[in-house]
Amino acid sequence: MTQSTPDTRDITAQQHRVEEDLVKRVVESFDNCEDPRLKQIMQSLVVHLHDFIRDVRLTEEEWGSAIEFLTRVGHITDDKRQEFVLLSDTLGASMQTIAVNNEAYKDATEATVFGPFFLDDAPEVPLGGDITFGAVGEPAWVEGTVTDTDGVPVPNARIEVWECDEDGLYDVQYDDGRMAGRAHLYSDAEGRYRFWGVTPVPYPIPYDGPVGEMLRAVGRSPMRVAHLHFMVTAASYRALVTHIFVEGDPQLEIGDTVFGVKDSLIKSFEQQPAGSPTPDGRDIGDRTWTKAHFDIVLAPDTV
Ligand SMILES: [Fe+2]
Repeated sequence: MTQSTPDTRDITAQQHRVEEDLVKRVVESFDNCEDPRLKQIMQSLVVHLHDFIRDVRLTEEEWGSAIEFLTRVGHITDDKRQEFVLLSDTLGASMQTIAVNNEAYKDATEATVFGPFFLDDAPEVPLGGDITFGAVGEPAWVEGTVTDTDGVPVPNARIEVWECDEDGLYDVQYDDGRMAGRAHLYSDAEGRYRFWGVTPVPYPIPYDGPVGEMLRAVGRSPMRVAHLHFMVTAASYRALVTHIFVEGDPQLEIGDTVFGVKDSLIKSFEQQPAGSPTPDGRDIGDRTWTKAHFDIVLAPDTV
């Protein structure tokens, strides 16, 4: 097992031995674990955790603060508010896990963070349907195809989409129980899909909890680049969890607080003049709307 070297320059040889001996004994306490993967994970976790404590020479007060912080992360978490996901996201742990598990494969669409706002019981809409269910915002027509890396259409792919409204809030952030700005649909025989949503806007992750306190304490912005979430699944293909980001969003320059942006996922939401004809002839009144195109390329589930 690779072990980094903690910063123990100012400690005596005896102290160094005491600390090393403790790491060794804790690692060995997992030696009889019958699950080799669990054993590997726990022993590595112990090594890195002890390295961290020793590297920063963590004080007992700081350790207590960390325990208290994690306790509050747990207490604020419920079925609508997932503070642990926010913590993982803002520490880049979510994106690192995605990087480790979604190695680039040919020109397959890149993955990005799942985020804390997915619900697995969003309604189904037909092709060309409206996922807003009352979520307010500038209408956006989103279309594209789902194919494999050879360009062969993937029919009947399940496409989950979810997004915030123009006020930067997801349905679950309202306390009236609404379900809006989310749905699923299926690609047709040629792999095509299309739906109406709203033009994404930048929004802050919920920052009224411990993760927000952490961001304020270190001078970081809670803002995310405007995006629309996708999760695409189809038999024999690697599940894809991703977003498309809005080209031209000023937040792209400032940065995304969960490190989710990839250049290949930045798409144009081209604004159309007020009152101009819509792709499906839908009457949206005398207002502007946007049009985005996102072709989804799935990797096989064997890679
Ligand atoms: Fe989001």
